[in-house]
Amino acid sequence: MRDQAESLRLQLSRLNKKALTKAIAIISGKGGVGKSNFSLNFALTLSKRGFHVLLFDMDIGMGNIDILLGQSSHTTIVDLFERRISIQELIKKGPSNLSFIAGGTGLTKIFTMDQEKVDYFLTQLQSVSEQYDYLIFDMGAGISEDRLHLLMAVHEVFVITTPEPTSITDAYAAMKYIHLRKKDIPFYLIVNRAQTNQEGYETLRRLKNVMRQFLGKEVMKLGVLPEDRAVSKAVARQTPFLLFDSTTKISRAMIELTDRYLADRTVGDLNVSRPTSFFARLRQLLLER
Ligand SMILES: Nc1ncnc2c1ncn2[C@@H]1O[C@H](COP(=O)(O)OP(=O)(O)OP(=O)(O)O)[C@@H](O)[C@H]1O
Ligand SMILES: [Mg+2]
Repeated sequence: MRDQAESLRLQLSRLNKKALTKAIAIISGKGGVGKSNFSLNFALTLSKRGFHVLLFDMDIGMGNIDILLGQSSHTTIVDLFERRISIQELIKKGPSNLSFIAGGTGLTKIFTMDQEKVDYFLTQLQSVSEQYDYLIFDMGAGISEDRLHLLMAVHEVFVITTPEPTSITDAYAAMKYIHLRKKDIPFYLIVNRAQTNQEGYETLRRLKNVMRQFLGKEVMKLGVLPEDRAVSKAVARQTPFLLFDSTTKISRAMIELTDRYLADRTVGDLNVSRPTSFFARLRQLLLER
């Protein structure tokens, strides 16, 4: 009896203690492999599951999140510094209670800014982050020195590739670049635009083996998303494919992938693998430059 009461108390205290906000960066080696579509629809699937998600568009190229959502934004991160607006004014509401911050050339500058601005940005971001379960960063293609700080601070890095050999080798090169600077970052692999499931899983297996063989690094296989014409149709309509039609091959695969990701979480996994919070790490990395 006593043991049961004890375990019940423990469970309740866990429920009361809010889990850490998890930060995830979505990267690729090669451009145009589907990062923005993945980030947006993964974020939406998490939102639909009841999580509070803040999606960051760190990309200055094509296919910006606000365009994919059909909600162009005029305020950019630059206004945060130049007009000292609060971060709340930057955060837009998308469908399904999803929050997002639109991209813009200013966003990449954060990482080359002076300390005072960095500090202001981090304080602003931290002040809202407690409201969120997930912070998702849609990074541009390739890895540059100025984004490395963010990549080294997040809890998980999702790496997207297509089954094309050039995309696979670029994904490997990107992971190698990060791994050589920080060994304990968990990588999750996603193959997008697979013609068949077999092709997708074979690509996952090969990339995982190459990482193990040449870098001694174990990476996770997160899943495979199919080639589906529904994606370009949804993009043309400026609607996330999940909302365009939730029954297409791509939407079903996305829901399955997200549910598998959520099911893999074990209580307190963050506390075991990467104990400090995202902000503590990012602040340290940025202020120690
Ligand atoms: N699963 C898919 N099936 C079919 N087409 C796809 C799929 N995923 C992406 N695409 C196509 O690829 C295009 C580029 O996708 P997206 O903008 O998401 O890539 P990205 O990696 O973010 O690109 P960038 O490197 O420029 O940021 C989409 O507009 C769409 O036409
Ligand atoms: Mg993109």
